[in-house]
Amino acid sequence: MWEQVQETVNYIKSKTNFTPEYGVILGSGLGGFTEDIQIEHTLPYNEIPNFPVSTVEGHKGALVFGTIQGKKVVAMQGRFHFYEGYDMKQVTFPVRVMKYLGVEKLIVSNASGGVNHDYRVGSIVIIKDHINFMPEHPLRGKSDLRFGPRFVNMSEPYSRKMIQKAKELASELNIEVKDGVYLGLQGPTFETLSEYRMVKILGADCVGMSTVPEVIVAAHMNLETFGISVITDMGNEESIDTITHEEVLEAAKEAEPKVRNLIKNLIMQY
Ligand code: HPA
Repeated sequence: MWEQVQETVNYIKSKTNFTPEYGVILGSGLGGFTEDIQIEHTLPYNEIPNFPVSTVEGHKGALVFGTIQGKKVVAMQGRFHFYEGYDMKQVTFPVRVMKYLGVEKLIVSNASGGVNHDYRVGSIVIIKDHINFMPEHPLRGKSDLRFGPRFVNMSEPYSRKMIQKAKELASELNIEVKDGVYLGLQGPTFETLSEYRMVKILGADCVGMSTVPEVIVAAHMNLETFGISVITDMGNEESIDTITHEEVLEAAKEAEPKVRNLIKNLIMQY
C-alpha cells in the first residue's frame, strides 16, 4: 500500500503544486463547504490513480484544493463507506494520501442519529471520542512502520486542543454545540429501536456509518483530528419509523451554514 499511496501522491503533485495543511472530509449534505474555499484545483476521484469511486447519492467525488483566508486546505467532496462494498483499506486510502500531500490536521464531518436526549434533529455535536463497532479494522494485516506503529494509542483520537478552540469559536459565533461520543456501525440499514437502545447503553451519544475508520487511520499517522456531526434523526420511539436518506440529507442541509461557519473559523483561527 505504501507504493500505491506514493504513486497517488506523485500523480496529484504533478497536477497541482499545492501543499495543504488541513484535510477536510465532507459528510452527507455538507458538500457546500467547498463554496467557502477559494478553489485552486479540483481533481475528480475517477481521474486519481488508486482512488475508489463514490457511489452514494448526496456524495460528490472530488478532491478540492484551495485556500480559506490563506490557509491551505484539501477537501474530500464525498467519502467512501464500508457499506458501499469497499474494504477498510480503500475507505481510508484518501486519508493516507492527504497525509503525504502534507496535511497535518484533519477535520471530519458526518450526519448521525442521536440517542442522547439532549439532542434534537439539527443539533451540532463535536465528537469527543468514538466507539469502533465496525466489523473490519483498517489496520488489520501486516504492519508498515513507515505509516505508523503496530499498536496505536487511541487515548486522544480527537484533539482536545481543537475541541477547546471550536467550543470557544462556537460561543463567539453564537452557534449552539453539544459534544458527544460517536459509535460507528457498518450500515447500510438505519438502526432498529433495540439497536439505538444498545448504542445508548454502550455509552455513545450518536451513531453513524462513517468517520471511525478514517479517524483510526489518522491516529495511526499522527494527524491532529477534529470531528463534527449533525444529528439528522433521533433514534427514539417518536421518529424511529420515519427515517429516510432524503430526511437525513435535508436535516444536514439545514445545519450546514452553521457547521460551515464553525469549520471555516476553526481553520482560520486554530
Ligand atoms: N444511523 C446511522 N447512520 C446515520 C443515521 C442513523 O440514525 N443518521 C444519519 N446517518
